[in-house]
Amino acid sequence: MNKPITTADAQPNDLSQFWVPFTSNRDFKAAPRLLVSAEGMYYKSHDGRDILDGTAGLWCVNIGHRHPRVVEAMKAQIDTLEYAPPFQFGQPLAFELAQELSNITPEGMDRIFFTNSGSESVDTALKIALAYHRIRGEGTRTRLIGRERGYHGVGFGGISVGGIVYNRKFYGPLIPGVDHLPHTHNLEQQAFSRGQPEWGAHLADALEDLVTLHDPSTIAAVIVEPMAGSTGVLVPPKGYLQRLREITEKYGILLIFDEVITGFGRLGTSFAAEYFDVKPDLITMAKGLTSGYVPMGAVACRNEIYQAFMDESPAGIELFHGYTYSAHPMACAAAMATLQVYQEDGLFRNAAELSPYWEEAVHSLKGLPNVKDIRNIGIVAGIELASIDGAPGKRGMDATVKAYEAGLMVRVTGDILALSPPLILTKADIDKVIGMLGDVLKTLD
Ligand SMILES: Cc1ncc(COP(=O)(O)O)c(C=O)c1O
Repeated sequence: MNKPITTADAQPNDLSQFWVPFTSNRDFKAAPRLLVSAEGMYYKSHDGRDILDGTAGLWCVNIGHRHPRVVEAMKAQIDTLEYAPPFQFGQPLAFELAQELSNITPEGMDRIFFTNSGSESVDTALKIALAYHRIRGEGTRTRLIGRERGYHGVGFGGISVGGIVYNRKFYGPLIPGVDHLPHTHNLEQQAFSRGQPEWGAHLADALEDLVTLHDPSTIAAVIVEPMAGSTGVLVPPKGYLQRLREITEKYGILLIFDEVITGFGRLGTSFAAEYFDVKPDLITMAKGLTSGYVPMGAVACRNEIYQAFMDESPAGIELFHGYTYSAHPMACAAAMATLQVYQEDGLFRNAAELSPYWEEAVHSLKGLPNVKDIRNIGIVAGIELASIDGAPGKRGMDATVKAYEAGLMVRVTGDILALSPPLILTKADIDKVIGMLGDVLKTLD
């Protein structure tokens, strides 16, 4: 066996066996960035450096790293019940967690289906939408509508409704009967907006055109991220989500909010639905549900949707769908403790209270070399850099690597840097994140 990388002076193992996801394996294995431990706002790198976590891991570690209450709850759970089958059997914590979670989902959306990831939550929500129409006798509603630049994970359902070309183009025709709304990004109209851009609500009217083209009787659901994170932080224009809700309601189309990133306090509220005051029919979530301590996702749906399955399905199983690890006991224990931490430590409030300070801080980077746009909402920021001619993505990646070398973790999509630190952050942490990133931006080619 190769020597594990656990100490500050450890030499990297043989890195060839692990196929690293969504990463240039050739670049990464030539200069790996390995994280060996973590606490609070910081990771420790394999070469012994503190790395300030500017991204809550991958938009998930909202309560910060190794929170003792969650660690304890997980230890206690493994000593009690490590696994129970979720089909035809159950375990109490699954029901208790669904109840706890329903206390923070929008009113009337308290029926919860558990999954293991955001991608599974998206596929689950799309399947619930299709099956819902069918059991009610509207089986012609099979079309799904996503949005350009949308990211809904990597399942076939998610990449079909998703709108990021590299995530789609290698994988054949995808699922049929999918169409896309235009994305909402327009630098000419929106550059350096603070919070929601003023311009762009009318882009939701494109849904009317799709309804006219396909006929409402063929459309099952529209899925959007209320704030598109992975494509580079696209904040919805004022009035846009409201307009989508009006149109979907008018034509009996289900509206799915993919809140895998925006759920659990990222915008200072439980969910973006609350922040924007728009209630969808289904909400997908994952990441912040367990703060990333163990994989878990969920779909919350309107009670009427669940009830339709109970009322209209023939006797027996109402929804032919589920995962071996749906409501896994370890995940339930982590999620229960995480929800408690959110509440007891007031983390959503902390995010809400700090968001004006965050906004000021991130916009202070305006004017630095190559900064084309800065956008923000809640405790999220996107910093769009000018691309190097003929080498799109290079400047963004260079910034990410330099930031890491300087002790800061940022996330990159093309030439857009995203920041989304843990919600335990303080003003001093914000100053550090922005100070370090500013220094990096000044040194970029
Ligand atoms: C909006 C959204 N949906 C779905 C996913 C996929 O989640 P996972 O990677 O857990 O499958 C992500 C991941 O970033 C996401 O941001």
